[in-house]
Amino acid sequence: MADARRSPARAGGGTGHTDAPCPPALPPLVIHLRRQAAAGPRRYVAGSAGHPDRMPPGLAAALLHEYTQPGNLVLDPLAGTGTTLAEAARAGRNAIGVEYETGWVALARANLALARQQGAGGHARILCRDATRLPSGIPHCLRGTTSLVLTAPPAARTMPGHPSGCGTTPSGRTTSRGRGGRAGRVAVFSGLTSVLAGCRALLAPAGQVIVVARARPSGGAHAGSLGQVLQAGLSAGLHLTAVRHAVQASHLGETCGYSQSCRCPATGVVRYAVAVFSQAC
Ligand SMILES: C[S@@+](CC[C@H](N)C(=O)[O-])C[C@H]1O[C@@H](n2cnc3c(N)ncnc32)[C@H](O)[C@@H]1O
Repeated sequence: MADARRSPARAGGGTGHTDAPCPPALPPLVIHLRRQAAAGPRRYVAGSAGHPDRMPPGLAAALLHEYTQPGNLVLDPLAGTGTTLAEAARAGRNAIGVEYETGWVALARANLALARQQGAGGHARILCRDATRLPSGIPHCLRGTTSLVLTAPPAARTMPGHPSGCGTTPSGRTTSRGRGGRAGRVAVFSGLTSVLAGCRALLAPAGQVIVVARARPSGGAHAGSLGQVLQAGLSAGLHLTAVRHAVQASHLGETCGYSQSCRCPATGVVRYAVAVFSQAC
C-alpha cells in the first residue's frame, strides 16, 4: 500500500517491557499507520469501529503488503470484525478467518461482502468456531498452505477456549477434546498459545505468523501485551524473527527510533507492538 510507509528505524531502545527473549540483531522497525480517509466510500460497515480491540485497517494493510504476495492465503484465527480478511481481499490475497462471537462474525461477513462489492480481488471467508481447537474446522486441503497468520489477541484477561488447551496433537491430528462442544474461558496467554499451536499445522513451510499486541504506556504483562505474545509464540513452538512497533505518525514518511517508554518523540505514540514469528527450524 503506497501510503502506509514502512521504514527501518535506528532503534534507540529495546523492544518494550517483556521478560521474553528478543532477537538480538533485529532492531524494531516503525510502521506508520494510515490515517482514516476523510472522504470516499465507507470501507467497513457501521458498527465495525465498535469492536473494542479492532485492528487499524492501515496496519493490517501495511503488514499484508510487506509479508505476502497476491494470491497468498492469509489466516486470522481471532478475526473479530474481519479487518485482516477484508484488507487481504482488497489487496488480492485470499483469506480465511475464525471468530467465536456470532455478532462479530456477522459484521465480518458484511465487511467481506462490502469489500467484494467494491472490487476486492481476493476471496475471503470467516468461520464461526473456537480457534483454540485449530486446525480442527479448517478444510484439510488448506493445511500447509497459509503464507501468513496475522492476528491480535483479545485485550481482556480471558477468552473463549478449551480449558485443556490445544485440541490437537503435535502432529496436527484432532483429539477427542478438539471436536464439538462449547468453549469455556481460559486465560489469554494459554488461549493464544493454543491458537498459535493450532495455526502451525496450517502454515506453509516458509509461512510466518504476525501477532499484533497493543502497547500500553505502563508496559508490563497485561493481557495481550507484547511479553505475553512473545511467550505464547515461543510456547507454541514458533521462532521469533522480529519485533516491530507501529506508530501513529503525524507526518507520513517521517521515521524515528523507538524508546521503551512507548513514546516516539518525532512522530507520536507507539500504539502497537508487532511480533513476527516463523516455523521453528
Ligand atoms: C483483538 S480481537 C480481533 C479484532 C479484529 N482484528 C478486528 O479488527 O476486528 C480478538 C477477537 O478474538 C475473538 N476470540 C476470542 N477467543 C476466541 C476463540 N477461542 N476462538 C475464536 N475467536 C476468539 C474475540 O471475540 C475477538 O473478536
